[in-house]
Amino acid sequence: MLEASSPAKAILFGEHAVIYGKPAIAIALDLRMSIRVRESSSTSVDGGYITMNRHRYVRWALENIWKGGPLEIKTRSDIPSASGLGSSAALCCSIVAAIQIMGGSFQRAECARQAFEVEYNVQGKASPTDTSCSAHGRPILVSFKEEENHLWSVSKGDRCWHVHHIDSEPLTLVVGFTGRPSVTHLQVEKVAGFYRRSGFAVETIDEMGDIVIDGLKALKAGDRVGLGELMNRNHSLLTIVGVNTPELQKLKEAADPTSYGSKITGAGGGGSIIALTDRPEKTAANIERRGGRPFIARFSERGTEARWLGGDP
Ligand code: PMV
Repeated sequence: MLEASSPAKAILFGEHAVIYGKPAIAIALDLRMSIRVRESSSTSVDGGYITMNRHRYVRWALENIWKGGPLEIKTRSDIPSASGLGSSAALCCSIVAAIQIMGGSFQRAECARQAFEVEYNVQGKASPTDTSCSAHGRPILVSFKEEENHLWSVSKGDRCWHVHHIDSEPLTLVVGFTGRPSVTHLQVEKVAGFYRRSGFAVETIDEMGDIVIDGLKALKAGDRVGLGELMNRNHSLLTIVGVNTPELQKLKEAADPTSYGSKITGAGGGGSIIALTDRPEKTAANIERRGGRPFIARFSERGTEARWLGGDP
């Protein structure tokens, strides 16, 4: 029997803009998804047969990466699904890490690349931001040129993303989940339509790119006030490109009085906001009072991990 686990992620700055060649910053959070895997006479996930709809990521990974026999897989997760917190990326990293361990050894860069392949093939469209963040387990910068603290690069077609480690002190965020799923590809298409039609949308995306560069400096300096202001500005720009909703806005307004700043995280149209705060309990209570599901999350220090559990080889 072996266990593999990976953290949730939140995009701090640059969602959507990353699709247009801008950098993005993602942070790993200390909510985890873990799987236990053992060889078995038939393949199962959580005691049932593997199905096309419910187990798309596991199925793709087993069919395309795993070379051995049937496996029994049990999953456990603190990460709410479809919340914008990267639950599918954490699952992809965990299943790939398990397969790597069964094949001999865990290799983080290769795990990040293969987990991206799984997510990309199942979703049709994805950047490696979520999978690389979950694999690394600390803040990352994704950009289109190699910079300081380069970790690995991920290619697809003619695109190549470079993933970098960011040194940052461990900050506390409160996530406010609307309870409504965020459907990434719908929001990506919506922004793409606006981008094609409007010069204003192009300028808005450019401004998001500038926020990422300022956000990187503020994150490295541990400047909470600066980060909060940039989060608020990034949120306004995400509203302009059309991915805010009344529920997300309500949770932002609930979080703001006790936070440095807050914003939509991920694709939007549902999903979650994140708030940077020194008063997480108060912020969480305010979010809950306005109908959101709060999670207090600290920056994670742990990326994907995989190990054999006692007894087995
Ligand atoms: O909501 P999420 O976690 O799937 O994040 C999407 C981020 C986008 O920039 C909108 C898409 C992407 O693949 O980078």
